[in-house]
Amino acid sequence: MRFYIAKNGDALAERALKYILDSGFRRNDEAGRNDVSKIFNLGLASGSTPKKTYAALAKLVKERGLNLSKLHCFHLDEYVGLSSKDPRSFVFCLYNDVVDSLGLKKEQVTFWRGEAPNRPEECRRYQEDIRRHGGIDCQILGLGINGHIGFNEPGSLKESRCRVVKLTEETLQHNAKDLQGGLMPTQALTMGIADILDAKTILLLVSGKNKTESLRRFLEEKESPAYPASFLKGHKNLTVIADQDAVNGLEVDVIANPFRGEAISR
Ligand code: GLP
Repeated sequence: MRFYIAKNGDALAERALKYILDSGFRRNDEAGRNDVSKIFNLGLASGSTPKKTYAALAKLVKERGLNLSKLHCFHLDEYVGLSSKDPRSFVFCLYNDVVDSLGLKKEQVTFWRGEAPNRPEECRRYQEDIRRHGGIDCQILGLGINGHIGFNEPGSLKESRCRVVKLTEETLQHNAKDLQGGLMPTQALTMGIADILDAKTILLLVSGKNKTESLRRFLEEKESPAYPASFLKGHKNLTVIADQDAVNGLEVDVIANPFRGEAISR
């Protein structure tokens, strides 16, 4: 596990962008362009934390005219009942933040269909799409205040796969500001913990003061469904980038201990 502390949200995005470039983009011509020169499957988190990273990636792609034809993206989770035209849906946001700004074709992204009438079938389709594409190379994640990753709420098992979940009161309250203007969803479609852990590399981004308590639990707690993000600590290639606001108030040794002195860099 690598753990980086970035001084603010912009520095977090910069570090995250570097990580994504290093893991999936290859320098493949004399001009030093970093095109995606082999198939690269990128898992995209929804939510506010990765937005600056996506913007930084889009800027770079535009400036350098990168070729992304071998990139495929997966969309981590979605509210049940929200369509891609609903501005409250994650698909809607990812279209703006990633698909349009990177100039990806529709078929380069596996999206959840929040309005799919047959949800078990939708989960099977999604699971099969991950398999058909050969798995996820790099999964970007945000951290829920209750330790959810994707919409794997507390109680989620390490073996869980793509499925429908009931959202907790805590999550609904926390996300309520983004869900005004329509019927409040109570369920979500999400990749499971096992699907996330199958990714070759995982990048967990943690930003803001309201994540400090959750980050403390991530650092201190043993693997358990009570705090789903804890399962990430068993992954062999996990990188965490937290900003100073998220880390403030945590004792440095609390940060260092779980990783036995592994890379912590500011
Ligand atoms: C949300 C979503 C996740 C997201 C996480 C953190 O509820 N289910 O996909 O990564 O919680 O969101 P944010 O970055 O907005 O704090």
